[in-house]
Amino acid sequence: MIICPKCKEKLYKDNKTYKCINNHSFDIAKSGYVNLLLDNQKNSKNPGDDKDMVKSRKFFLEKGYYKDISHKLNEIIGNDIKSEKDTFILDIGCGEGYYTGNLKEYLDATGKKNKILGIDISKQAIIEASKKYKKIDWVIASALNIPLMEETCDFVICMFSKIIPEEKNRVLKKGGKVIIVSTGENHLQEIKEVVYKNVKKDYYSPIDDMKEFKHIETINVKSKISIEEKENIENLFNMTPYRWRSPKDGVKKLFNLESIKVTIDVNFDIFEKN
Ligand SMILES: C[S@@+](CC[C@H](N)C(=O)[O-])C[C@H]1O[C@@H](n2cnc3c(N)ncnc32)[C@H](O)[C@@H]1O
Repeated sequence: MIICPKCKEKLYKDNKTYKCINNHSFDIAKSGYVNLLLDNQKNSKNPGDDKDMVKSRKFFLEKGYYKDISHKLNEIIGNDIKSEKDTFILDIGCGEGYYTGNLKEYLDATGKKNKILGIDISKQAIIEASKKYKKIDWVIASALNIPLMEETCDFVICMFSKIIPEEKNRVLKKGGKVIIVSTGENHLQEIKEVVYKNVKKDYYSPIDDMKEFKHIETINVKSKISIEEKENIENLFNMTPYRWRSPKDGVKKLFNLESIKVTIDVNFDIFEKN
């Protein structure tokens, strides 16, 4: 189902490489991922999240602070799988694979036959994902050029990542679902209150951007978590886009805290391909 990024022909696994009929070949790394991102698909030398961001997110998520979000994803997809055949799931902008890996474990444990592919434009993220989660296929690729044939996926997941509706439509089967997870208006409110003088409440809803799909429902997940230890507070902050655009004194104030209680407020928007 994976296609060559150069000629769009099917790629076949041949020992330690993927090859197409036009002899384009792509090596499979020791940890199991393949890099299908062409230079002309990059907007910088190392696109996507950098090593520090990836490590911060990995360490934070692995502590289980966001487990409610992970459980909700598992529940939504698990309850929707009715088929006895393999369900094909694509996670776009999968990062270092925390949610993808948990989903795989959950579906396998509950007897739901599945195949999961995670793609991310960040090499560092895919390296981490492929080292840890061995039962998933990992590919470095862009959400703008998904290396899959038309109508391959039963589910496309997009968690806190770029939304490219046209590509999702192309790779989804008819009746397939897209699950977009984005932050709600109160998400990490308490962190923002420490860092910024004026906190504006806003949030993004993908419904307008996803007009070509049928919107099924929005499910909100809300909880309060206690984050203990400076290291965990720093990791949480450093895995968010606030790390790039926050006043230094605010960040210093945050990093001096020993603990903080924060609101988790996340929306799952579920869409269906018509
Ligand atoms: C906020 S992180 C979310 C990671 C993961 N989904 C999670 O929730 O833990 C966004 C991810 O999208 C990736 N990304 C950004 N632009 C992308 C693109 N054009 N194609 C694929 N991935 C992209 C980044 O490298 C990063 O890993």
